[in-house]
Formats: sequence, structure tokens, C-alpha cells
Amino acid sequence: LPSICMRRLPIVLTLMALLPLHTKAAPGTDPFEQNRRLGRGINIPGVFDRNGETVPDPPMKPEYFKKIGDAGFKNVRLVIRWSSYAQQEAPYSIDPVFFKRVDWAVEQSLANKLAVVLDFHYYPLISFTGTQTSQADPQENRTRFLALWRQVAEHYRQAPPEVMFGVLNEPSRPNLGIDGWNALVAETIPLLRSTNPDRTLLVQTANGGGFGSLESLRIPESEHNTIVEVHNYDPGRFTHQQASWSSNRIYKDVHWTGTPEEKAAIDEAFAKAAAWAKKNNRPLYLGEFGAYQAADMPSRVQWTTYMARTAEKHGMSFAYWGFWRCGFDVFDARTETWTEPLLKSLVP
Ligand code: GLC
Repeated sequence: LPSICMRRLPIVLTLMALLPLHTKAAPGTDPFEQNRRLGRGINIPGVFDRNGETVPDPPMKPEYFKKIGDAGFKNVRLVIRWSSYAQQEAPYSIDPVFFKRVDWAVEQSLANKLAVVLDFHYYPLISFTGTQTSQADPQENRTRFLALWRQVAEHYRQAPPEVMFGVLNEPSRPNLGIDGWNALVAETIPLLRSTNPDRTLLVQTANGGGFGSLESLRIPESEHNTIVEVHNYDPGRFTHQQASWSSNRIYKDVHWTGTPEEKAAIDEAFAKAAAWAKKNNRPLYLGEFGAYQAADMPSRVQWTTYMARTAEKHGMSFAYWGFWRCGFDVFDARTETWTEPLLKSLVP
């Protein structure tokens, strides 16, 4: 017996040497590692989410990306309304000039060590839009959605793993309920995988990306490189008081002081989401949260701090809504400075 072992030893050693190469996943294919890579981040609205207006060149000051990186953020979620920069009819070509502008923002982000979430915002009829303008036929609309994604996926197929795809922002009723969203996810993922087998995808939950829809989300079992994205603006009467596009616009002078009840509501929601994540073995990205400027600053700071720390406690990455031009701004473009207390609440 010992002599057999000895004879096989070289083979065993060779196998052992080779094994790590085979078990180590390709870079960017472990969604938990990718989620740690995302870490703390910020949404950039107001640049690529206009309604077809010409995007300036450069789209924003290059030093702003540096400021974001220097402030300690690790990811940016680029808020993009692809549908406003593409043909209405087949083949639904995306404007090459628009692609160039987005490419520039991706390059600036990566140069400042910021991971990038390429978001798919305000898609007509199936994604939340404050004011709905398109009356497009839902079926035609879906064909166009897939055609746009085919182009985006093809365009970024060579991008490094720090570039991730956000499938659809806030899937919304009435044209896309729970089943409709699950069906669209099942259809979109294989399309993205055909050109981007190793890309990290972010998939939100039905009915606006809320925590409450986690249980109903169906991601194909075979899908291993997906992060689930959720949004949270609770309590809405505080975060969206006076916000014209929200049903909570009727509220005014609502404060958030961090009473035990207020904290318990947040704790409970996050603990439930974290339990879902654990059971389903999916990492979570809190892709949007923020309190509108109509609320008082001390309340905004306390709420934002509590949300960010609670997300972190549960191993979630995040992106605050948002950098500027959204009414939740943490950066003041007039003075080109951060609103320090808010910034500190995100990156202490
Ligand atoms: C979503 C909406 C955006 C809104 C934000 C906060 O991202 O798409 O329009 O400003 O939530 O309500």
C-alpha cells in the first residue's frame, strides 16, 4: 500500500497545485465580493436622465468624480434614461453621441476607483416616473426595452467587472405587476448573459423596488452573479413631505428624531430583508434612500445616518439619492461644496 501511495504522490501533488486555479472564481463573478466592492455610494441623477435633451460635453466636471472618490464613496449609480436617447421604431438604435457621454462618465468613475452601476431609469410604462408621458403599447414597449438592453450589453461587454448592470429602476404598476416583472427578469437575464456571462447584475423588486416585494421576486436558480437591489424611503410622510411628485406631498413639518419607535420600524424592515437575503443567498444593495429638502436638516441627517448604518450592519452596500439636481442633494453645485452634515452621515 505505501508504495502505491508513493507512486501516486506526484499525481496527487500536481492535482493539489492545480486545484486552486479551478476553484478560484473569475474576478467579478462572486456577487458577495462585488457587493463589498460597491460599498458606500451615491446616485448621480440630473445628467443622463433628462427627457431627450442634449447632454453637454463633458456631462459634468471631471473633478466632481474626484470629489466623490475623495469623499470616501466607492460606487456611483449612474441614473440613465436610455429610452429618451434611442429611436422609437425598430431597430431602436441608441444615439452614439449619448453612448459616448455615458462612456466618459464610466471612465471618469473607474479612474477614481468608483464602481459603476449602469441604471435603467424612467422606462415608459414599466418603471416609476413621476409624470408619465409615453402612451406606448406595453408589448411594443417591452420589445424596445429588450432591444435597448441588447445594445447596452453589447456596448459594455468588455468593461471591467466594476461596471455592473441595473436591469430596471423601480418596476412599477399598473403595466408590470409581480408576475409581469418576474417574467421580464426571466427574459432579460439570458439576453444579458449572451454577451456578458460574467457581469454582475442588479435586480430590483416589483412595485417600486420596495423591501415588501422581496418575497415575490423570482430570479432564475441558475443565476449566480446577481445582487438584489432595494429602495427605501420610509416613512414616506417624512422623506417625501412637500415633494410634488409624491402622494406624501400633503405632509409638512414632519420630523425624524430617532425615537425608539422610529428606529424600531427601520430595524424591523432591515432585519426582515436581511433574513430574506440570507435564506436566498443573495446580497443586497440599497440603491436609493434619502430625505427631501423640505424636511429639516437635523432630521435628514439623523434619518440618513440611521439608514446607512443599519444597511451596513446587515452587510448591504448602498447608494444615496442623490449627488445633486434632485432635491435630496448632498453636493451644492453653486458653491461646489458638500453639505457636510449629510456627507458625514453617509461616510462618517
Ligand atoms: C426614484 C424616482 C425619482 C425620484 C426618486 C425619489 O428614483 O425615479 O424620480 O426623484 O425616486 O422619490
